[in-house]
Amino acid sequence: MTPEEFTGAVVLTVNDKKVEVAARPDMRLSRLLREELGLTGTKVGCDAGDCGACTVLIDEEQACACLVAAAQLEGRRVQTIEGIANDPIGRALQRSFHHHGAAQCGICTPGMLMASLDLLRRVEKLSLPMIEAALGGVLCRCTGYLKICEAVLDAQRFLEPDEGLAEDVLLPTGDGDASPAVATAYETRPATSAVAVGARVARLDGLPKLDGSETYGADKAPQDALWLRAIRSPHARARFSIGDLGAFVSNEPGIFRVLTAADVPGENSFGIFPDMKDQPVFAEGETRYRGEAVAAIIGERAAIDGFDVARFPIRWEPLEALIGLEAALSPNAHAVHVSRPDNVLVRGWVEKGDVDSAFHGSAHVAEGVFSTGFVEHAYIEPEAGFARRVGDRVEVFASTQAPYMSRDEVARVLGVEPGDVRIVPSACGGGFGGKLDVSLQPMLAIAAWQMGVPVRSVYTRPESMAATTKRHPSAISARAACDAEGRITAYAMEADFDTGAYASWGPTVAGRVPVHGTGPYRVPNVLNRARAIYSNGPIAGAFRGFGVPQAAIAHEALYDELAEKCGLDRLEFRLLNALRVADETATGQVLQASVGLDRCLEALRPNWKRMLDEARTLNAKRAVMRRGVGIACMWYGIGNTALSNPSRMRLTVTREGKLTFFNGAVDIGQGSTTVLTQIAADALGLPVTVFTLVSGDTDRTADAGKSSASRQTFVSGKAAENAALALRAEILRHTNAGPDARLSLQGSRLTVDVKGESSVIDLASWPSGHDGVVFEGVGDFDPPTEPLDVKGQGVPYATYGFAAQIVALDVDMGLGTVRLDHFVAAHDVGRAINPTLVEGQIHGGIAQGIGLALMEEYVPGRTENLHDYLIPSFGDVPPIDIILVESPEPLGPFGAKGVGEPALVPAAPAILGAIRHATGVSIREIPALPHRVRAALEAAGVALEI
Ligand code: FES
Repeated sequence: MTPEEFTGAVVLTVNDKKVEVAARPDMRLSRLLREELGLTGTKVGCDAGDCGACTVLIDEEQACACLVAAAQLEGRRVQTIEGIANDPIGRALQRSFHHHGAAQCGICTPGMLMASLDLLRRVEKLSLPMIEAALGGVLCRCTGYLKICEAVLDAQRFLEPDEGLAEDVLLPTGDGDASPAVATAYETRPATSAVAVGARVARLDGLPKLDGSETYGADKAPQDALWLRAIRSPHARARFSIGDLGAFVSNEPGIFRVLTAADVPGENSFGIFPDMKDQPVFAEGETRYRGEAVAAIIGERAAIDGFDVARFPIRWEPLEALIGLEAALSPNAHAVHVSRPDNVLVRGWVEKGDVDSAFHGSAHVAEGVFSTGFVEHAYIEPEAGFARRVGDRVEVFASTQAPYMSRDEVARVLGVEPGDVRIVPSACGGGFGGKLDVSLQPMLAIAAWQMGVPVRSVYTRPESMAATTKRHPSAISARAACDAEGRITAYAMEADFDTGAYASWGPTVAGRVPVHGTGPYRVPNVLNRARAIYSNGPIAGAFRGFGVPQAAIAHEALYDELAEKCGLDRLEFRLLNALRVADETATGQVLQASVGLDRCLEALRPNWKRMLDEARTLNAKRAVMRRGVGIACMWYGIGNTALSNPSRMRLTVTREGKLTFFNGAVDIGQGSTTVLTQIAADALGLPVTVFTLVSGDTDRTADAGKSSASRQTFVSGKAAENAALALRAEILRHTNAGPDARLSLQGSRLTVDVKGESSVIDLASWPSGHDGVVFEGVGDFDPPTEPLDVKGQGVPYATYGFAAQIVALDVDMGLGTVRLDHFVAAHDVGRAINPTLVEGQIHGGIAQGIGLALMEEYVPGRTENLHDYLIPSFGDVPPIDIILVESPEPLGPFGAKGVGEPALVPAAPAILGAIRHATGVSIREIPALPHRVRAALEAAGVALEI
């Protein structure tokens, strides 16, 4: 059918049902499905065919629904995620994804499943390359793709018996856990309903991610919600004046209101730290970065969608902008904020021993300057949500990692009490630190508050990338020294981080980096200094590691050089210097327990030797492709740096026998909902299957702090354990039972069994509160830390995660391209509460480390989409072997620490070390894009002609 023949309605078959839909000929199928038919399982990540999240089947073939117009659909058969369960292969795929932990945040999962269904219907005997080719159009930012490949390869196994998904909550480990894509050296006990900790419990919140029913920020809003769109600066820095808004609104049908700074009822400023609320909701008079909001238009969907920003009455006067650290620190630079005339937002440092003498007296010294660029989070779910006024309160439903922080910031801009704001987190389609800061929440709340109607917004992909935070670009100048035997004697670092136009998490980066700057080694003399620098670049905020990944690139490169200078194998050099229990860190903290780095390195040794041997053999035969092997270690302080970091959890049992876990920790895909429930289940002594979960809503749960800094398993996990123990103690106290008692819960019968003697509590007949609660347990945890003194000495973290990773890769000596062959990652996680989820974090972290090392560089105005900004896709992530080391942390729940950030930190330095091993050339401007590698090879005189 041509657009001319189109009658305004299209008849098609969707999930085996014939439907007639009134639609413009150019309406995208994704919109038709989501908005005309209510099938929101088809997700929209980019609206440009780059991410594949909207993949559906049209006449049995996969297609991006955002690229297909209504006019092309007459008579076609469309299958979406909502119809996947109609197909036995589809059901098998769902079960396999669930079993293998192939969905983390889940926003890509509908697209992945539909592409997988397309493949499995066509091909019976699968191979990894087939999967990579068939699913290659769908991006995932969480999983590193390996568990998706495992799940697709293994799907046949789930064809029979054809049981319901819900019965698959607890899954024993079995043959299906190893595959050609992933091998794990970790053995875990089978899951049973009695023991949850250590079991591969399938994600408790996983089912809605597999059938399209999960509700992300863009998937829900009141019917009468108006739409909001921000007007943003096209310039990195500009003066502006807004014209006659009354006349504008009168002349724009469907646009009812414009909001500017003048409409902010409270403070027109927000930020992470109480004394650094420097970011306005709407800029006033001058913008400081490209993408900054100056106003917002609110109206009907069609008017907002079709609005041409050139019609907005604003006059721009571009001003000279400070782009990059050098410009921001130049003597003639203007002050981005008057409070910081030199553009230095904040300094952090750690000073220990006598660095000058140590360098002077050392046998070997290595030094270098390293730089990295902006890195975009590239979560597949752009920011989205709605706000509505409910009496004298405002409710905001949006994608966030930090509901309580959002609540407080929204209250600040509205000028109301925090209790007058309710944040209901949507499912979070990926965060990685980028959804810690508020984005659209203040604008939505102001609009709903002022207009008295619900208001919603969904950022476009370019808007999401331009307006929100990034990983800090860095310039790190570092020196390291060791004695003749290879013992590290000194480390000194000057690190500048471009925090962009506003503070965001700049202070956290400047504070965390000096502590971690030496890497996880004994270093008696340290002088680490870091600064966060304002510029007119994008706001740099939190991104998986808070500056530690950038610092690790520097220290691991220097330690490779020192190992070489003193004739030690790179792994043995690290093992010689690795922090162990009773060692002192750069901040003077004596590590008391749970320091498993030496065990990680020892576990890697056989692989390391084998991979080095393979490299020697290959390189003896090849000239163009050179094999290199790299190694890197990391440590990561779990939770906030030297700050209070509390979490509270609550469990209740009602008269009806309902056991509810009120958990304010937002699961951003990392699996905290499942892990915390496993912890609570074992501490309480009841299976996870009897828990009802309430998550994240600020009206219903207590503040668990942010899902950041790898803290939820350790901090909220301990709070969950404490809550469960408190509830258990309450129950046992009422039955005079001892600590060995076994509990069971069936309906309103709570049975307490002691050595075969049972007492039954009939909950229905017990006294209860007005909410029907009979028993309650509340648990708190705030990790013990100490403030850092004037020399940065103290106890910044209660515990640390440790890891070492090795990688083998090939470098094309002509083209400068890098092909990854194989990773082995050994991680000390304290205790793997759920090995499947831990592995998923490690895969995903390594994938993001690959992006940092080799691919990703955000350039404002040039890479504001997922076509020009490349993230790893299928085929970019090599096989990853995982070795889980359990060095229990006495403070942690069942010994657990955290793994979110630790998974990413060593990947990039290991890759860069492998490139150096392959070529003899150090790449110090990151990412190591092919042209940079080629240029470095040329400069070293080792490039081959092409
Ligand atoms: Fe794939 Fe989150 S699970 S993007």
